Amino acid sequence: MADTASGKIEGNAILKTITIRRPDDWHLHLRDGAVLKAVLPATSTDFARAIVMPNLVPPVVTTADARAYRNRILSVLPQGHDFTPLMTLYLTEGTSPDDVEAGFRDGLVTAVKLYPAGATTNSQSGVRDIAKVYPVLERMAAIGMPLCVHGEVTDPAIDIFDREAVFIERVLEPLRRRIPELRVVMEHITTREGVEYARSAGDNLGATITTHHLIINRNAILAGGIRPHYYCLPVAKRETHRLALREAATSGDRRFFLGTDSAPHLDPLKECACGCAGIFSAPVTLSCLAHVFEEENALGRLEAFTSLNGPAFYRLPPNEKRVRLTRHDEPIAFPKSIATGDGPVTVFDPMFPIHWNVEASAG
Ligand code: DOR
Ligand code: ZN
Repeated sequence: MADTASGKIEGNAILKTITIRRPDDWHLHLRDGAVLKAVLPATSTDFARAIVMPNLVPPVVTTADARAYRNRILSVLPQGHDFTPLMTLYLTEGTSPDDVEAGFRDGLVTAVKLYPAGATTNSQSGVRDIAKVYPVLERMAAIGMPLCVHGEVTDPAIDIFDREAVFIERVLEPLRRRIPELRVVMEHITTREGVEYARSAGDNLGATITTHHLIINRNAILAGGIRPHYYCLPVAKRETHRLALREAATSGDRRFFLGTDSAPHLDPLKECACGCAGIFSAPVTLSCLAHVFEEENALGRLEAFTSLNGPAFYRLPPNEKRVRLTRHDEPIAFPKSIATGDGPVTVFDPMFPIHWNVEASAG
């Protein structure tokens, strides 16, 4: 048995078991209704908290909307699951600074989400002119409330593979210069430029990284046929970017933390001529991450990425309970899809056998 700086590793020649603080998911889509009911347990069994995205139809815009949505989530939480949804508000050009502040002070709302209008799923009500939301952002800076940013420009002239890098240059850097106290999370970074920008910044900037962007590059979507279940936004980039993300996630650097962006869509909405963006990874996320960190000889830093760096950024205590992950000799059989009352949702397939399994809370 060996203790590392961040997690207890048991086993000698082969590391078989790792015990870490219960993780949090700092970027999650839970949806609503039948899909919410079906997907929530995949997160609430393994995760203590999650930042819940507000891009419902209609979006979660006000503190009252967030309260109602939180109640709907808690009403379908399986008995005995210890899970806290951390609510976000969907920023619009009509968002009231007073409502945002009231929700934050109340403890109900943790962050605000900026979607550039048209950037992704259900983002039509997002922001077209950033100047229109300066009063909200200034208020958030004053009260220390984080802004979660979908960092892609929507300019049709910009190639989809360049939209993140151009966003940093055109929108994020000017915004942070204008309001330096604003605490910003670059959500689901997918590029070397994103990694470098986060590294170059101070304490007011963090970045989430998804499980799938550590595993796939754009070939998964496009080589040998179009595979819609690997399509998400920001779209996976070329290999050099995946390697930069892996290096960042496994480095232990406090600015990088897990946000799965697990985003369920019903299969018919992905398997069609114009399929939705989103990868549903919640059921396999921790097992896949253990695989990735083991490959990078970084199992001792898994806990920093999943359970320590996020709470530090959000100024919340890390979870006290632990989970134990065990490496099995035989691959573990995960479901290929889950059934919801509205139809099936395909689970992320990492294209390698998964040997790690999460055991019940290790106390
Ligand atoms: O792939 C994605 N899916 N990216 C997003 O930004 C939104 C999400 C969704 O809601 O499906
Ligand atoms: Zn998302």
